[in-house]
Amino acid sequence: MYTEGVGWSIAFIRTTTLGYSLPKARGRDGRLTDQMMFTYRGVSVHQNGYVGDVFRALFRTFKPVKVLEIGTADGGLTILLRDLLDEAGLKATDLWTCDPAVRDRPHLMHPGIMYYAVDALNSTVLEYHVKYAEGPALVLCDGGNKPAEFNRYAKFLRSGDIIMAHDYAPDHDTFKNVMQNQHWNWWEINEKDITEVCQTHELEPFMQDEFQRVAWCCRRKA
Ligand SMILES: C[S@@+](CC[C@H](N)C(=O)[O-])C[C@H]1O[C@@H](n2cnc3c(N)ncnc32)[C@H](O)[C@@H]1O
Repeated sequence: MYTEGVGWSIAFIRTTTLGYSLPKARGRDGRLTDQMMFTYRGVSVHQNGYVGDVFRALFRTFKPVKVLEIGTADGGLTILLRDLLDEAGLKATDLWTCDPAVRDRPHLMHPGIMYYAVDALNSTVLEYHVKYAEGPALVLCDGGNKPAEFNRYAKFLRSGDIIMAHDYAPDHDTFKNVMQNQHWNWWEINEKDITEVCQTHELEPFMQDEFQRVAWCCRRKA
């Protein structure tokens, strides 16, 4: 939980049981700086080092049956999410990830992961994965155009589903004063990008304080 003048809760600074060491917050110019990018099971994760803790907290209360990650990159977050789902008792949850950039990703050849080398902005099969899920769906927008991905997939959601987008800060001041050089240095989506679609489709903030720490926007359909 972020508190003005105090910073983020110390609850985030602890050791994970997932098999990787959480980064130590370190001083730089008088500020605490999180690790940005790390490896998990030897694969690069393009995320704040505390991302695993926040998703673990999410899966305590939200139990998706379908997860779609847009933007696989190396696949480190995919593998981390698979382990977190399993840890939360969600072994049956389908985890799909997609990325049109052709790369060799043999480490994603895992029974609990479906990797599609396709463009999420032009794929009917991915839309169906979300639209016709037989239970709660989770969509993670982390591809090349987060506003377009969020706006496209938001309209396929049903009540209780969650959509998220990475590299989020609500506005310029928050990015500069709260995120940059402290928690995350990339900013690709802001509140104005999603205001209209959130109103139209009744998408409400969910665990936003926790997810802001790791630069994700999180909205649940009412
Ligand atoms: C920031 S990286 C993803 C990082 C990854 N999710 C992680 O946490 O480690 C963005 C990726 O999105 C992919 N990408 C770009 N456009 C896309 C699209 N239309 N659909 C799916 N993936 C896309 C890029 O090829 C790139 O690998």
